[in-house]
Amino acid sequence: MSQAADVKTLGTSQARDELDRLHDLLVQADAAYFQEDKPEISDAEYDALKRRYLAIEERFPDLKRVDSLSQAVGAPPAEGFAKVRHAVPMLSLGNAFDDEDVADFVQRGRKFFERDKDLDLAFTAEPKIDGLSASLRYENGVFVRGATRGDGTEGEDITANLRTISEIPQRLSGAGWPEVLEVRGEVYMTHADFAALKARSVAEGGQDYVNPRNTAAGSLRQKDPTVTARRSLKFFAYGWGEVSAPIATTQYDAVMRLGEWGFVINPLMIRTTEIEALLAHYREIEAQRATLGYDIDGVVYKLDRLDLQQRWGFVSRAPRWAIAHKFPAEQATTILNSIDIQVGRTGTLTPVARLQPVTVGGVVVENATLHNEDYIAGRDSTGQPIRDGNDIRIGDTVIVQRAGDVIPQIVAVVAEKRPADARPYVFPERCPECGSEAVREANPKTGKLDARRRCTGELICPAQSVEQLKHFVSRNALDIDGLGDKQIAAFHADGRVMQPADIFTLEARDARSLKKLKDQEGWGETSARKLFAAIDARREPELDRFIFALGIRHVGESTAALFARTFSTFTAFREVARAAGNGDAEAHGALIGIDGIGETVVQSVSAFFANERNEKALDALLAEVTPKAYVVSAPADSEIAGKTVVFTGSLERMSRSEAKAMAERLGAKVSGSVSGKTDLLVAGPGAGSKLKQAESHGVTVISEDEWFELAGQE
Ligand code: IVH
Repeated sequence: MSQAADVKTLGTSQARDELDRLHDLLVQADAAYFQEDKPEISDAEYDALKRRYLAIEERFPDLKRVDSLSQAVGAPPAEGFAKVRHAVPMLSLGNAFDDEDVADFVQRGRKFFERDKDLDLAFTAEPKIDGLSASLRYENGVFVRGATRGDGTEGEDITANLRTISEIPQRLSGAGWPEVLEVRGEVYMTHADFAALKARSVAEGGQDYVNPRNTAAGSLRQKDPTVTARRSLKFFAYGWGEVSAPIATTQYDAVMRLGEWGFVINPLMIRTTEIEALLAHYREIEAQRATLGYDIDGVVYKLDRLDLQQRWGFVSRAPRWAIAHKFPAEQATTILNSIDIQVGRTGTLTPVARLQPVTVGGVVVENATLHNEDYIAGRDSTGQPIRDGNDIRIGDTVIVQRAGDVIPQIVAVVAEKRPADARPYVFPERCPECGSEAVREANPKTGKLDARRRCTGELICPAQSVEQLKHFVSRNALDIDGLGDKQIAAFHADGRVMQPADIFTLEARDARSLKKLKDQEGWGETSARKLFAAIDARREPELDRFIFALGIRHVGESTAALFARTFSTFTAFREVARAAGNGDAEAHGALIGIDGIGETVVQSVSAFFANERNEKALDALLAEVTPKAYVVSAPADSEIAGKTVVFTGSLERMSRSEAKAMAERLGAKVSGSVSGKTDLLVAGPGAGSKLKQAESHGVTVISEDEWFELAGQE
């Protein structure tokens, strides 16, 4: 490429000529690349031409050609990707790590359907592709929109990028597809394409690519679809989302139909009723793993009949009717150079191993978790050996393990290789961040010491408050655009944001401040304005996200969702939690009565609301934000929606867990005990004390048959 003049110095007519020249070059390069499969210029050169082309367009908007290349494949919105709400959530999968877990899964299914006589449950088994899931929407057979999984409920619109993948049909073939069909599957990159891309990039001195999965992810998130198009991506279809009419009655047949409509489906899918056959297929796939040509990280088993899938249902974000049988983790041997302590948002001191860099399953690992003090010592607090009973010392040769997305861990010491000068590690008893005492709490029930040592500094500990804030704005919590770990750390360090409420008063304080955000390094007028707008947009967060964002110990996403569903409003939840914190037995009972909530959670929720500093921080926060009331999305005509139901006695038409799943599907809350808040008691034969309690509370009591009638399933 000749030395081209700076775009800023171009006059209008020069700019027009230059734009035309670049246009021709790019069109020619695209043709060579896509149609002839023979790239004429390097990716780096292509990118430089493209950047210059876009810069001219930006400076001379009037010169933009009607066939502008910035619009060629459908330019994405300048702001990044638009959000797409999934009408049917995109779920994740529970894991099985050995044959026994798989047998348990099949047994759970058999038990769930035990009342259905002579039912021989069939399951499918297929590879779990290590890529990114995508949802493709077809209307009248035409591809109209494609989205990432995102948080499962809301993804990003990456239609333009997906259109560049040749294995994704623009139009469905064959016949019989429903008017609306959302196809779900995995976008991935083959080993061969990955190696070629990497080689090209190395030759050009470009970026390094870590592994096919990350590269596929990066390619899908390109703002410029022509860049995506230059990375060869592929797609396997294995499921569906919204459909205007059922596409089959079994998983297997549904996938076959996707194949008939033009999708690539994985050839290694089978269907069987035997656990042994599932496990044999797992071993078969494992044996082929190295020669498949693409990364897989396990085998997925799914209950075949779709009506039974529906009945078996879901737990939080994963279906009960499917499970991923993961391949064993990959391991490597290296040297432990040192141990650092990290302080998490709840004050836990976690030891992190700094390692001699080593490649584990294709990824370079330099850090790994050592879990806790006992894990390093090789003994628990009562002196029982952990792992092989060896302690881990600095200088030791250790075995590191990596599995999927989890943090690498040290699983063993190679005792024979211990150098003479290796010293045992002394775990600190003070927080390295704030100097407060770090203690191990005793479990109130068992009296056993907690394996974790925690900093007692709470609010004065900078590590805890900054980690808490990062959690507060994180993706599955308040999810504030443009406010990530980096910004939070900086705002915390310069004192702008010390507690969650400060985020929402940032703009008002900034207006009065002499040190305006827009003048700070890394910020400008536009980015500051955008941030304030993004913060403003989250002043009415969803209740489950809000509860999760508070960072109460042991309250993860699904527990937060349970509270949201049970209490509907934050005020109601806070009132009960506060009362429980003050020792009110009825409030404690209301919390522990929620199905899926145990004593540990109740203790930690009570302690959170009994803490005055937390209450103050909450008051400040609630002066700025108003969590939305949680609306249960249930069939509008369900008479059961919103009711609190208790099951008792023996049920004859369904198992207890099916009864619960069914009630939840219809929008009811299921409780384990009867109280004044119970609306319905479904009593089977042999009902005892709960029936009496219901009668004394004046709760409506119905039979199992009446329940089915009420559910409209008669
Ligand atoms: S089924 C409702 N099948 O694994 C079931 N998922 O850990 C949802 N994945 O997000 C998924 N291969 O990205 C299914 N054959 C397969 C899969 C598969 C890969 C991914 C998918 C999902 C993740 C869950």
